[in-house]
Amino acid sequence: EIRFFVLNTGAKIPSVGLGTWQADPYVVGASVDAAVKIGYRHIDCAQAYGNEKEIHWPVRMKKGSVGFKHENLIQPDIPSTWQAMEVLYDSGKARALGVSNFSSKKLGDLLEVARVPPAVNQVECHPSWQQTKLHEFCRSKGIHLSGYSPLGSPGTTWLKSDVLKHPILNMIATKLGKSPAQVVIRWGLQMGHSVLPKSTHEKWIKENFDVFDWSIPEDLFAKFSEIEQARLLRGTSFVHETFGPYKTVEELWDGEI
Ligand code: A2P
Repeated sequence: EIRFFVLNTGAKIPSVGLGTWQADPYVVGASVDAAVKIGYRHIDCAQAYGNEKEIHWPVRMKKGSVGFKHENLIQPDIPSTWQAMEVLYDSGKARALGVSNFSSKKLGDLLEVARVPPAVNQVECHPSWQQTKLHEFCRSKGIHLSGYSPLGSPGTTWLKSDVLKHPILNMIATKLGKSPAQVVIRWGLQMGHSVLPKSTHEKWIKENFDVFDWSIPEDLFAKFSEIEQARLLRGTSFVHETFGPYKTVEELWDGEI
């Protein structure tokens, strides 16, 4: 059973969490309620999702910015942001500190100045964007990788996502008698990631948590390496030729694209 992963602070992170990005503010409460009853103890949330009364990208907005505008993007000062987070860790209010959407380069830079090293990097991760290099880097530094959009965000209309439709995945799901979503989540756990599937439907919230008493056998697990790789969420909103620190997506991801 892979219910938890142990972080570099000794704190435990539950391996399956509920994603809430794009959950409507009026329904997110009920989804979280259902999830906690089912046994979830890890909820992914963010101020930027607009359904919470944190921060998610290596960017910074001008003080007082409301909503998202390119004009408000300014150069982040990651070392001083991290120092403020270390104060939270020292106070006991946070049991571990993490970042999101950090490349290996940004993690390496942070590790050079951090007194409390990051425990988690939350990034896009699923069979069609496996993050093999970043995961290897994280593993070598004792940083846990947490995967968002594990199902490839099939409900996001502006993304061309067919992660759940991939023939290799469907072949494996049929053989194991599980849904493609369950196989993707279980793949993440066996890779050593925590996984954050989003759903607002109780049936799926339940299904997505039913991944602990079975596993993908080695021969089928090996098939995942045949899946072609492409990043879905390129972060183009944080890229602008005039405003903010990143002029191209290559700069945002330090070439890991
Ligand atoms: P919904 O939110 O309507 O319940 P991701 O976690 O990769 O961002 O994917 C979330 C999307 O996948 C949402 O559209 C969600 O639907 C849908 N989804 C969640 N669980 C399942 C499942 N078990 N099978 C199919 N689709 C699912």
